[in-house]
This record gives sequence, C-alpha cells and structure tokens, in this order.
Amino acid sequence: MDAGVRDVRVELGERGYRVRIGPGVRRGLPGVLARLGVRRVAVVTARPPEWTPDPGVEALVIEARDGERDKTLAWVQELCRRFAAFGLTRADAVVAVGGGTTTDAAGLAAALYHRGVPVVHLPTSLLAQVDASVGGKTAVNLPEGKNLVGAYWQPAEVLCDTDYLTTLPDRERANGYGEIARCHFIGAPGLLGLPVTDQIAASVALKASIVAADERDTSRRHLLNYGHTLGHALEHATGHRVRHGEGVAIGTVFAGRLARALGRVGASRAAEHHDVVAAHGLRTRLPAGVGDDELIGYMRADKKRQGDGLAFVLDGPAGAELVPGVPEATVAAVLRAMPREEG
Ligand SMILES: NC(=O)c1ccc[n+]([C@@H]2O[C@H](COP(=O)([O-])OP(=O)(O)OC[C@H]3O[C@@H](n4cnc5c(N)ncnc54)[C@H](O)[C@@H]3O)[C@@H](O)[C@H]2O)c1
Repeated sequence: MDAGVRDVRVELGERGYRVRIGPGVRRGLPGVLARLGVRRVAVVTARPPEWTPDPGVEALVIEARDGERDKTLAWVQELCRRFAAFGLTRADAVVAVGGGTTTDAAGLAAALYHRGVPVVHLPTSLLAQVDASVGGKTAVNLPEGKNLVGAYWQPAEVLCDTDYLTTLPDRERANGYGEIARCHFIGAPGLLGLPVTDQIAASVALKASIVAADERDTSRRHLLNYGHTLGHALEHATGHRVRHGEGVAIGTVFAGRLARALGRVGASRAAEHHDVVAAHGLRTRLPAGVGDDELIGYMRADKKRQGDGLAFVLDGPAGAELVPGVPEATVAAVLRAMPREEG
C-alpha cells in the first residue's frame, strides 16, 4: 500500500469489501477489476474524462450529472437500458464515479440490473466519501419524497480518491464536514486537525462498524442519524438552501442543547457540540426566516419517530442512543433558545 493510503474493511461476510482512501487511489481501478475477475464494465461518470480513470478493460462510458434532478427511476431505467444495449452481464460490473447522487442512482441500477451486478464506487465529493458510498444503501427520489425507492446493495469495493476533493467547491466541502463533525459524538472523537485522509478513514471505519452490526437499519444504524432530525427539517424548511451536511452540523449543536435540557448531559458536553461544529468551520446557528413551528412540523415526519413526541439520537450517560417520545414543548423551548443568523 502507498504511503498516505488507508484501507478500511466493511465486515459483512461474503458481502464484505474494502474501502481504500487516499491520493491517487482511483488509478487502482484496473487492479480492483482484475481481482474481481471482471472483463467488461459500464462506467457511469459525472466527472470530466481526465478525472474518470481508465478501467483497463472493455468499457461503456455513460456520462452522468450529479444532482437530485437525475436521482430518478427514469434515469435508473435509462442506465439499465444502456447496460442491456452494451450486453452487460452478471459477470461484468458497474463503476460509479461522482457525488452521492450518482453513486446512489448507479448503485440502484447495479442492484436491479440482472437482479444485481457488482458495483465499484469512486465517490468524488467529501460527503459521498465519508457517507453515501459506504454501507450499501442505494436509492432514488419520487416526486412524493427523497430516497423513497431503493435497495440494499453493497459495493464490491470503494475507492475514495482524495485528489477529487481538490476541485470541490467550499460549500460542498462544508457539506461533507457536517457528517465528519457529528462522528465526534457517535464513536470517532478527535478528528479535528487530522489530515483529510485520516478524517475520512476514521469516519468510514465508524460507519463500517455500525453497518457491520446493523446492515438493514433496524437498531444501531440509527446512530448515524446524529444531528439529522433537525438537519432534515432545516433542509426542507429552506427549500434545500441549507445543504444536508450544513443542516446536520446545526442539528448536532441542537442535539447537544436538547440532551442538556433533558438532563442527559452536562453543560460542558452540550457546549462541546457547539465547539466541535464551529472548529470544523461550520455554521452553528439556525438560519434566519425559518419558524420553529415549521421545523417541528417537519420533525414530526421523521422516520425514526414512534408514538407520541419526537425522536432524536442523543448523547447521554450510556453514549448516543435513539430517544423517542421527546415532548414537543421541550423541543420548542430549546429551538427558541438557539442563536439565529441575522436575516
Ligand atoms: N446511500 C447512502 O447511504 C447515503 C448517505 C448519505 C447521503 N446520500 C445521498 O447522497 C446525496 C448527496 O451527495 P453529494 O453531497 O455528493 O451530492 P451530489 O452528488 O449532488 O454532489 C454535490 C455537488 O458536488 C459536485 N461535485 C462532486 N464531486 C466533485 C468534484 N470532485 N469536484 C467538483 N465538484 C464536485 C457535484 O457536481 C454537485 O454539484 C443525496 O442524494 C443523499 O440522499 C446517500
């Protein structure tokens, strides 16, 4: 292994795989395909040709666009039709090069085509490297909502090339750092100031351990939703002006304050939430112009909710855990006390 390259294994028995992280690792794609015994691939790429690695085998290159607008069943159908026209078989593979929207859609096409062909992800955004490309969730959106149609389909390998991050806009970098910051509270503290390869490797190792214990999201995988209940509400309430990771960052600060209000943590641990998020260079205050009632309305629709009250993943004496039945009045009081950006 080259210096500065980290390997993390997702331990899922025969569906287990390696996540390789570091500068230039995209160039290892031919070796990965050789190891998998793959002789033909469909490369679904949202990056320009100079950033799309040569797979070293016969390839159909399909140009894709990152973004939610193409995370649709229509695009999955289009991909599958192009795979069919190329004659892709189950002995071949799909390679996805792009942000989380591209790895999600190409991953679902790989899960469905011929009832499943191997997929190798080359995530190119920080968020896709630390989160979307690892763990096997694939999905597309419906007009009725995000990620409503999907499948669990673990990749055969993930190559997180940190060189991709050199062209990433600042806003997208912050989007990824929101997910890295919340790792501090769910089992990967102390990532601040580390080289980005190590930050990604630690975040991926944390996700890998959680996914290995709960692949299908019935228990421990909820932990990954730290900061997400308010985060998702902020995304919706602002029409996605607040990006996912930015919402998770503000939601993490809020989770510290809510845990404090519920007597689960002390004042210094609550303050640590603010400090860790701020130290990652992320927004910590609620955006202007978003009403607390509106946010609570969106939080009522959260998928973790069961019965009365709202559900959050919160820190506490036994570490982070899913806390259902949080009274709306408490949530409203903590929201009221949160600092706000000026409009
Ligand atoms: N499957 C999962 O477990 C999982 C987990 C988290 C998020 N997701 C999904 O991931 C998606 C978000 O991923 P995302 O933030 O990568 O969004 P994205 O794919 O839309 O990419 C974000 C932006 O970054 C740009 N970009 C990506 N790589 C770049 C690069 N190297 N250089 C310059 N620009 C680049 C894209 O063109 C796009 O404008 C959402 O749809 C979300 O639902 C999935």
